[in-house]
Amino acid sequence: MTRAERKLDHIKHALSTGQSRQTWLDDIRFVHQALPNSNWESVSLQTHLGELVFGSPFFINAMTGGGGAKTAELNSQLARISREMNIPMAVGSQMAALKNPEEISTYSTVRKENPKGVIFANLGSEATVDQAKRAVDMLEADAIQIHLNVIQELTMPEGDREFSGALSRIETLVNELNVPVIVKETGFGISRETAIKLQEINVAAIDVGGFGGTNFAAIENERRQRKLSYFNEWGIPTAAALIETTSVMSTTPVIASGGIQHALDIVKCLALGASAVGLAGVLLKKLVEDGEEATIQEIMRINEDLTMLMVSLGANSIEELQRSPLIISGELFHYLSLRGID
Ligand code: FNR
Repeated sequence: MTRAERKLDHIKHALSTGQSRQTWLDDIRFVHQALPNSNWESVSLQTHLGELVFGSPFFINAMTGGGGAKTAELNSQLARISREMNIPMAVGSQMAALKNPEEISTYSTVRKENPKGVIFANLGSEATVDQAKRAVDMLEADAIQIHLNVIQELTMPEGDREFSGALSRIETLVNELNVPVIVKETGFGISRETAIKLQEINVAAIDVGGFGGTNFAAIENERRQRKLSYFNEWGIPTAAALIETTSVMSTTPVIASGGIQHALDIVKCLALGASAVGLAGVLLKKLVEDGEEATIQEIMRINEDLTMLMVSLGANSIEELQRSPLIISGELFHYLSLRGID
């Protein structure tokens, strides 16, 4: 199977396995405020990640890596959506284009469609400095995401089996590149032990990419003869990964992603301390099933719902939202108690 066929397989199985809604965000409740003292007109959805300013506190997370004409088309559509809605967009892994120059247009179309927007490059932690620089240049990217996907590689029959040295390679990228380096998981979550290591090497942001949404173990198991089903329930649910990570971060911004489906999920993640929130599977499904215009409408509804929720919570800005009291119960509460996190 070629790389392009494999990437199309991932899209097909991501859509058929869907999102499992096991993020534990449903274990979090806001405390209603009957006197919020807020106005619709005063709410600002703007957020920032270091120097980068986002029109809304969410973005299109990485999805479409090297799959020939079909992914080129999806990338163009996503880029137009990100331009129309003034939200950032990450491309999928660019390794395909680094190995095969014919694939470059699959990605560079994103910058053509969205000349002024915030765009993230994307590579795995095996990337060299030269490869990362080329990936950034290909898109004139504003930042680069380095993805960590050990469980996906292990469940992929043709996947990597060697994972040593990733942290020091990422440290070299942080030191050598002149754009921010964001490290992201791809659906299995970042623990506080991992977060501490990443903070020590000064990454620009950590995207916790938690469990409970698109599940790459389940996707790869669909493609395998001998199923490694023990990995299907593996990983740190997004709410837990976010709290683990924010509990040990002093200055490094944290991004929430993994199974984010709607505005209430986004608002909860922001209230837990995320600076921004990434959506992948849910936008892919909308785009593939209902098209570009319907996806734009969906994002407009999310913006409207975010404003609605912020008015109800008396938060005029994302900073104010981050001070909202929350009630944590259920499995998430139990998990945090066992991990000794308040
Ligand atoms: C992904 N994701 C991903 N991530 C990454 O860093 N590089 C990549 O190339 C890809 N490729 C990819 C393809 C497809 C079809 C999907 C659905 C996803 C992972 C993605 O960015 C995200 O971390 C996970 O999908 C979890 O988020 P959601 O989908 O639950 O919102």
